[in-house]
Amino acid sequence: MTFGAGDIYKVEYEFSDEVAVHTRNTSIILGVSDQVYEIYRGGRVAHSDELVTSGSVEAGEELPLAYSAFGGHMHHAALRVTYHDHSLSTELVYESHRVERIDSNREQTSITLKERLKPFWVTLHYLAYEQEDVIEQWVEIRHEEEGEVTLHEYPSAEVSFANITDDYYLTSFYGLWERESSVQEERLAMGKKVIETRYGTWSSFDYNPSFILGIGGPVNEDHGEVLAGALAWSGAWRMSFDHGFGKLSHDVRERRQLSITAGVNPFAAEYHLKPEENFETPRMILTYSLEGKGVASRNLHRWARRYGLRDGEKVRPVLLNSWEGAYFDFDEAKLVSMMDGVVEMGGEMFVLDDGWFGNGEHARNAANAGLGDWQVNRDKLPRGLDYLVDAAQDRGLKFGLWVEPEMVNRQSDLFVQHPEWVIQQPDRYNMLYRNQLTLDLSNPEVCEFVYESVASILREHPRIAYVKWDCNRSFTNIGSSYLTAENQTHLWKDYVEGLYGVYRRLEKNFPEVMLQVCASGGGRIDFGALRHHHEFWASDNTDALQRIFIQWGIGHIYPAQACAAHVSMCPNHQTGRTLPLKFRFDVAMSARMGLELNPVDMDADELGFVTSAVADYKRIRTVVQHGDLYRLLSPYDGDFTAIMYQLDGVAVVFVYKIAHHLGQLMPTLQLKGLDEGGRYQLSELNQIDKQSHCSDIDRLYTGGVLMHKGLRVQLVSEFDSAVFLLECVAS
Ligand code: DGJ
Repeated sequence: MTFGAGDIYKVEYEFSDEVAVHTRNTSIILGVSDQVYEIYRGGRVAHSDELVTSGSVEAGEELPLAYSAFGGHMHHAALRVTYHDHSLSTELVYESHRVERIDSNREQTSITLKERLKPFWVTLHYLAYEQEDVIEQWVEIRHEEEGEVTLHEYPSAEVSFANITDDYYLTSFYGLWERESSVQEERLAMGKKVIETRYGTWSSFDYNPSFILGIGGPVNEDHGEVLAGALAWSGAWRMSFDHGFGKLSHDVRERRQLSITAGVNPFAAEYHLKPEENFETPRMILTYSLEGKGVASRNLHRWARRYGLRDGEKVRPVLLNSWEGAYFDFDEAKLVSMMDGVVEMGGEMFVLDDGWFGNGEHARNAANAGLGDWQVNRDKLPRGLDYLVDAAQDRGLKFGLWVEPEMVNRQSDLFVQHPEWVIQQPDRYNMLYRNQLTLDLSNPEVCEFVYESVASILREHPRIAYVKWDCNRSFTNIGSSYLTAENQTHLWKDYVEGLYGVYRRLEKNFPEVMLQVCASGGGRIDFGALRHHHEFWASDNTDALQRIFIQWGIGHIYPAQACAAHVSMCPNHQTGRTLPLKFRFDVAMSARMGLELNPVDMDADELGFVTSAVADYKRIRTVVQHGDLYRLLSPYDGDFTAIMYQLDGVAVVFVYKIAHHLGQLMPTLQLKGLDEGGRYQLSELNQIDKQSHCSDIDRLYTGGVLMHKGLRVQLVSEFDSAVFLLECVAS
């Protein structure tokens, strides 16, 4: 299509082709004319003929582009580019598309768009996961201009809804260190709502890179149309929800459009793309549900267990991590005695946290020294790591180790040798965060160092089964001595790509080693990191009451199997609160349970309780880690909160009393996801002195009764809690 000077731009919708992306229950339909439009996204349809249009907006008149670019008639657009000749306009026209079946569950559709005048291409990818109802979207950009093209804004995906409603509800997950993933829901007014982070190394302080959108009104766990999304990226990101009229001005017919763009944060992050270079964005993981938020979460969890995290089919071990039990203060004898405690409790792995490395004046006895010097501290551990690995093995335990290889203390051999390896600007004071600086992973030499720091430990100690990978600092005074002066803005993306490159090598060369992502607790809870890890440390906050809220938020997007939740001592080290040991266990048992304490700090009664709690957790962990999550009562809505998991006829229900008032009505839990006619044996786990929290325990119920009438629960005192097991004995 060509236009003469003075022509009024009129969009043509004579579609020459349709491209459909389907999963089991959802569809995206794209219309191909001169450009490519998103005709539909929602529940499954075979063909766009099935779609009904009505109302005063003319059919086909208001369709959004599948991926808009600034130029032509577009004022609001996803992509913004400056060409080598400094021109600003981009119009992406259809060039071709191809569909590739990867296996029986996955099909990838790729649509190549070309700039109308310039040798510049954008390929839109849609990878559909049939069974999980998940579609991954991302783009690749390349060009054959004579010189560099500057990418200013380059989101992974644009999703738009036109004229179906003006009633959108956004659930987002905000928070900070030790209070991650708080849930907030708001009606989207006209205008732009932006959630983002700009830390560089952390993706999920401030906000988690994910959302749930209610379409056409407020949605709940079981009802309403929902789009949920999560960006697989461990650095700075931005998601923008642009609610407006979505069309040229001077055209007053009724209309409404919501455009969502999500990707790497473009703030101070222009990318200069060389001719023939391929620029690939991170992936946006999207799912659509016609039955509320619960289905959306379960879709994402199922997808994550199968594709989004490492070894999702394996159950996770019960481990004790040494941090809160020892901090920097340990020697061989103390660690071995902790291992003895782990064995007594029924644990399966011991993880040595911070403090084991650095020597001489750079010994890691506090947070001020040693980062960068990944050699064992011979004062604390004279017989080296193998002595500890042997001690663990002799006790039937696996051994894990903490590292923080992206960071350096000024007080380290590494900093003395390579002061230029840190992120900084020459001549400007670089403030310390936790006494440390961030290494520049845009530099391949630094990536090699980071890789070798960890790989050499794993080569020398092949029985190390688990690595906790920490990251306690963001970027400040952003600058790289490796990148050219013009390309300083590449640091955001190149850092994360450098890190992912390190992970890929580790994964390839040490496939058996489990990896936990920890970034001051919950700073890197994202699907970009999870692809390379088995789990995340959900928060440095181990207070069980706050953990209920944190884990509630996280569970909207990420599976329980990946969510490390450890029982710690009281008064709690972060909040100072004292909570019953049973309550602490009942909260940790609802995710990947572990321990964060020194067993010698417990008395015999406590140790006895812990031992039976660990045994109970082992009975139910397959259901918790691989089952479907149902959120029953929100902690934001009342004095009681409850969730349950269901897998193959076995369900586990967790219920907690989080506020205590006289005259409170005890909760009746209407369970979900059970077989209506199935007969379930009800029992209670993790009891103290066989005290039950349900008067009608140890008997059979039908699934229908449990789901419709409900389970009446007695939680009497403050921070009372219960864990119920339901086993289907006949269907
Ligand atoms: C922060 C982590 O989140 C903690 O679990 C612990 O590993 C410390 N770092 C160690 O310095």
